[in-house]
Amino acid sequence: MRWIDTLEAAAAEKLPEAVHRYFRQGSAGGVSVGEAVAAWSAYRFRPRVLNDVSSIDLSTTVLGTPVDAPILVAPSTMQRMADPDGEIAMARGVLAAKSVLGVSSNAGTRFAEFGAAGVPWWLQIYILRNRTITERMLDAAVEGGARAIVLTVDTPVVGRKEDDGQTVWELSQPGQFLANLPEGDWSDDDLDKADDLSPDSIGWLAERTGLPVVVKGVLRGDDAKRCADAGAAGVIVSNHGGRQLDGSIPTARALPEVAEALVGTGTEVYVDGGIRRGEHVLTALALGARAVFVGRPALWALTVDSSAGVTRLLTDLAEELDHTLCLVGHPTPGSLTPDLIVPS
Ligand code: FNR
Repeated sequence: MRWIDTLEAAAAEKLPEAVHRYFRQGSAGGVSVGEAVAAWSAYRFRPRVLNDVSSIDLSTTVLGTPVDAPILVAPSTMQRMADPDGEIAMARGVLAAKSVLGVSSNAGTRFAEFGAAGVPWWLQIYILRNRTITERMLDAAVEGGARAIVLTVDTPVVGRKEDDGQTVWELSQPGQFLANLPEGDWSDDDLDKADDLSPDSIGWLAERTGLPVVVKGVLRGDDAKRCADAGAAGVIVSNHGGRQLDGSIPTARALPEVAEALVGTGTEVYVDGGIRRGEHVLTALALGARAVFVGRPALWALTVDSSAGVTRLLTDLAEELDHTLCLVGHPTPGSLTPDLIVPS
């Protein structure tokens, strides 16, 4: 059995039930979270032969940052429930694998600490109703050395979870999340997510921070094009790991249309959701992604073996990608083409 496949069960042994459920769950009826992995496995390869694959090179750049492999860590909250050092342990694991860390704006670690840890990191932001709070968080992220702003656009309201029993929120201690909220007497209304975003939000973020903006949660080619036209440096094809609109299309199926819409724009394409194997990564790259993000597997790895677990997860997936590249007859991710992939 692959070590990666043992992780969730091993993490479940260590975590309180409510935390395990929070990490694994999808929204509403769980349709999208349930379909994500199978949608990647449903593709088949048309491999090339008689190509020299004696030297495979996985390295690439993401928004100009060099990485050892096109496998990055998605932003997620509540990492201090998985490991006492939370996001900093995750950061150390990512740094050792020479990857890039997505940091949730709800993180339980101050942004300045990521800069100090030396990890290349991108801030994921929810624009809040109270834009002053958002602006102050953006300023702190810039000061902490964030290299990009990831604007999550699939959350005008938080997707309904159908929890029975205790929730992670009841279990959590102050400081385990929202460590970057500026001081102030904020009301619930201030902290609600904005539901009036538009393509102008992209320019607003870019201007405020001077950083490239990546739009996370795009599932359609026409929306991807609107993002590119508004100046987005990248989009992440994502349905939030099936935690927002339940029944939204699997990212494995949305990716080709988005990639096609962005050809020639210079906007980089990323994807997340259900990526668990080197074969899945290769499929995503061939269908037009520059890199993939993993969410839950990184949380399980962090729970099981802290930063060493995160490094092992990323390097194991990279080894599988290396092996799969060899078998499809391509020495580099950049040389992959969509005709390598067909629906099964
Ligand atoms: C998330 N995700 C997420 N996304 C985001 O933009 N901001 C956030 O704060 C969070 N928080 C979060 C918590 C937990 C527990 C999970 C599992 C996920 C979504 C995440 O970035 C990513 O889109 C998905 O996790 C990708 O799917 P997989 O790899 O988990 O299948």
